[in-house]
This record gives sequence, structure tokens and C-alpha cells, in this order.
Amino acid sequence: MQPKSNIVHLPVYQPGKPVEDVKRELGLSEVIKLASNENPFGCSERAKEAVIYEISNNASIYPDGASVELTKKLADQLGVSTDSIIFGCGSDEVILMLTRAYLVPGDETIMADQTFSVYKHNAEVENARVIEVPLTDGKHDLPAMLSHVTDRTKLIWVCNPNNPTGTIVTKDEVDAFMKQVPSHVLVVLDEAYVEYVTDEAFPNGIELLSQYKNLIVLRTFSKIFGLASLRIGYGVGHPDVVRSINQVREPFNTSRVAQAAASAALDDAAFLNECRDRNTEGLNYLREQFERLGLHYFDAHGNFIMFDTKLPSGDVFNALLRKGIISRSGWGKYPTYIRITVGSREQNEKFIAALEQVLQEAAVLG
Ligand SMILES: Cc1ncc(COP(=O)(O)O)c(C=O)c1O
Repeated sequence: MQPKSNIVHLPVYQPGKPVEDVKRELGLSEVIKLASNENPFGCSERAKEAVIYEISNNASIYPDGASVELTKKLADQLGVSTDSIIFGCGSDEVILMLTRAYLVPGDETIMADQTFSVYKHNAEVENARVIEVPLTDGKHDLPAMLSHVTDRTKLIWVCNPNNPTGTIVTKDEVDAFMKQVPSHVLVVLDEAYVEYVTDEAFPNGIELLSQYKNLIVLRTFSKIFGLASLRIGYGVGHPDVVRSINQVREPFNTSRVAQAAASAALDDAAFLNECRDRNTEGLNYLREQFERLGLHYFDAHGNFIMFDTKLPSGDVFNALLRKGIISRSGWGKYPTYIRITVGSREQNEKFIAALEQVLQEAAVLG
């Protein structure tokens, strides 16, 4: 048996460590996971009720593969037509479907050199040529990305805010960029964290869609909506693009439970607003603390922040783990940086206390 030669070198995706594993391995009773940009406040009560109803009444029935009801509701909220929306098993799956629909071996795809790893992974599965353009100050360099466009370029990925750095590109920057991207190139604007952003210069990708046919915006119910385990995200783009993605979609790629929870979550604006406010407070607190500790951090706009520990980040990761904090390290371009999800007030304070101890211990040992 011989798998495709272009996948044999691919790493298996390493998710943030589960809390249960860390408790068992390290004999800890309390562990705080700040590794996967999940919502520390859970999800809307309305979504929970919808889940219970679906499980109790409809678990034996296949879902509506086209998510018709959910599509209608979302189209209404976003002010777009129903044929411009595609749902996926998380926005991860929309990324997978995009690469499946658009990339053939030898095609080129452009992305930042430190961004969401799922873009590169899927492009490599399709044997496309990945062009990685350096972030500057943790931020996408859109003019540099543009300069790499050729006749073979099919997809450009812009993660806004960027995971892991949390930086944004502004509306003016995206506009100037989109005006110059040739029409044979599809731009993927990944807005997984859009609902957290409060900066007025931030573009709302949906509003740009009427101007640019070669743009698709990705969003998810995994982050501020707090439904990561149910796996549902979506893309919004020109109906022709959405149709191409639909042609490669699995018949029942989102579950009834996920669709029902997402629909109920869309009705709970109060939950969303509260999560955004608490996240903004948390970000402000973490920024203040990094400044007090003299640690550089990137200008964060999502529900996570990346900072420079000034030490090999794997060592800091392990030391934090022993104190019951799961963070995220291993960023090739930034070997001394750690990304941390904004938690509840209590979690953020515990994280800072643990970090201070780790840095003091390192100073004593160093
Ligand atoms: C930038 C970005 N895009 C997409 C995703 C995928 O989210 P999901 O598949 O849970 O919708 C994530 C998850 O961390 C992300 O950070």
C-alpha cells in the first residue's frame, strides 16, 4: 500500500492538550486550558436547549444536508442571499472544501508564514505549491502577498485577525489589496474571530462581497458562540464560488444538533455582547500585565494574545503546564513566543501568577 507521495511528510495536527490528559499525567486537580481559543463562558442557554431538544427528538433522523432553515436565518442576519452561504463541519471543513474545489497539483496558493496551519496542510494534500509571505510585526503584508501572484495562483489566504498573532489588516488595506488582486485569484478572508473585534478600522468582510466576486469570507460558531465541540462554521461568497464548494461537499456534513444550536445561538445577541465585553476586559488586563512584566506582545484583536517570553517557548510551555496552565507554543517563526487564550478574569489572574513564577524560577536557574 502506498499513500499519495505528497502527504507522507505531513504532520498529524496537534491540538491543544486536553485538560483530562494533563490532570492525569501531572497529578493536578485544577487545570486551565488556554490553548485553543475556546470561549471560557461556554455557550448560550438557548443553544443548550436546542441541543437537548434535537437529541431527544431527532437523533435518528439525517440532518438537512443543505441546512436550509439555518441558511435562511443567517442570510437574513447578514443581508446576503441564501445561495451565497455554505456550511461546513467547522470552518476547517470549508477550508478543506475550498482547496479540494480550487487546487490541482502545481497550482500556487499564497498565505502568511505564520498563520492558521490548516490552510497549508490542505493545500499540501492537494499537492499545490504553498508560497509563504513573511508577516511584518506579526501582521499580514498584503502588498508583498500581491507581489507573489502569478498566472498559477488560485487562492490567497488572509486571516483577520490572524491566528496566532491576533493582528488585523484594516478596511483600507483590504480594499487597496482587493482592487489589485486579479480576477482569476480567489481571496479567502478568514474571520473566525470577527465578533470579538472592536477596532473601527477593521473591515466587515461581508460588506466587501458586493464589490468583489473573487472573495469568500469564513466564519465559525466555534469561537464567540462557544459551540466548538458541535463543529459548525460557514463561508459567505459569490453564488458561483459557493456552488463550486457545494459540488465537493459531503451530503450530511453538519449535524442536526449543530444546526439547531447554531440557529438558537444566532438569536442570543445578549450572550455575544457579554462575551465580547468580558474578552475586551481580559485583553486589557493581559496587555497591562505583559507591560508590567516587560514582555513584548502583538497587537491582539481576537480572544487570544501572543507574547514574547524571552526564553525557549517549549520550556515555558512545560513549566506552565506543571502549574496547571495549558498554553500554546511551537510557533516556528517566533520560537520564544506563547499564545494564550483570553480566559475568565479568574483564569487570567491565575495564568499571570503562574507565568510570573515561571519567569522568576527561570531567572534564578539562569
Ligand atoms: C483562524 C481560524 N480559522 C478557522 C478555525 C477553525 O474553526 P472551526 O473549524 O472550529 O470552525 C480556527 C480555529 O481555531 C481558526 O483559528
